[in-house]
Amino acid sequence: MAMLSTALSGPKSATSYCAPEFSGLRRLCPNNNSNSNSHSQSFLRFSSPRKPLKSVVAMAGTGTFFVGGNWKCNGTKESITKLVSDLNSAKLESDVDVVVAPPFVYIDQVKSSLTDRIEIAAQNSWIGKGGAFTGEISVEQLKDIGCKWVILGHSERRHVIGEDNQFIGKKAAYALSQGLGVIACIGELLEEREAGKTFDVCYQQLKAFADAVPSWDNIVIAYEPVWAIGTGVVATPVQAQEVHVAVRDWLKNNVSAEVASKTRIIYGGSVNGGNCAELAKQEDIDGFLVGGASLKGPEFATIVNSVTCKKVAA
Ligand code: PGA
Repeated sequence: MAMLSTALSGPKSATSYCAPEFSGLRRLCPNNNSNSNSHSQSFLRFSSPRKPLKSVVAMAGTGTFFVGGNWKCNGTKESITKLVSDLNSAKLESDVDVVVAPPFVYIDQVKSSLTDRIEIAAQNSWIGKGGAFTGEISVEQLKDIGCKWVILGHSERRHVIGEDNQFIGKKAAYALSQGLGVIACIGELLEEREAGKTFDVCYQQLKAFADAVPSWDNIVIAYEPVWAIGTGVVATPVQAQEVHVAVRDWLKNNVSAEVASKTRIIYGGSVNGGNCAELAKQEDIDGFLVGGASLKGPEFATIVNSVTCKKVAA
């Protein structure tokens, strides 16, 4: 599905940031543009520039759809051989960046048997160069065995292992400095949501990343409400979209309009083959981070292919 990004107008002021007539496809204008040099644009993507327009893709961001499979601490040599074989034979839409994160000890096995179509992520990395850090894995080692990405700030590392915002920020900065892409996870606990603190928590976590990293070029943000992870309780499309649009606006107001437009904001938390389509239709959802359902090759492929749901009837 080749797509063309079409800017509907050139650089504009905050007030002309997005035209009201496109509000059905693109959210209404944020009220504040703190970066006067920025020229964030509304993008509509058409299926082909030459053919009559048949479909429009509902994407507020301009990055390629991104789907990551977080295998967590699951699998054996045998089950992973089967999963890799299922992934190798799956038909995946071409316009999606696909990544899987096996447990460290199986990365080499996966790297040498998995199609190059799918990139490998690690589930954690050390804050700096390797050395006398028992039990840790360095970014250099991850690169050495072919990893392109690392998941950082996952809720299980924040809330089970006890990693804090600053520690996670340091890890992100070091990984980026060495050329690894970072899947930067944020998300609120149930009690934080119930106390009306969802945005505050997400903004603090985002700020910790922003304070630490020199650039957002190689970062994908994963919004993963903690109450939805591994619980079977998925956020509704509206709940997810509400946070995703807030995250994009935070980037616009605190980093730049360009970063807000380019950065993929993916959703994680009980995504499966049955609910991915409705979530993918939300214009600020640029993909998924998938746990449990990524352990089943065909279901993971269905989630990857939900990119086709970004197309809506014109
Ligand atoms: P889940 O996990 O899909 O099993 O809820 C998501 C994640 O932790 O990334």
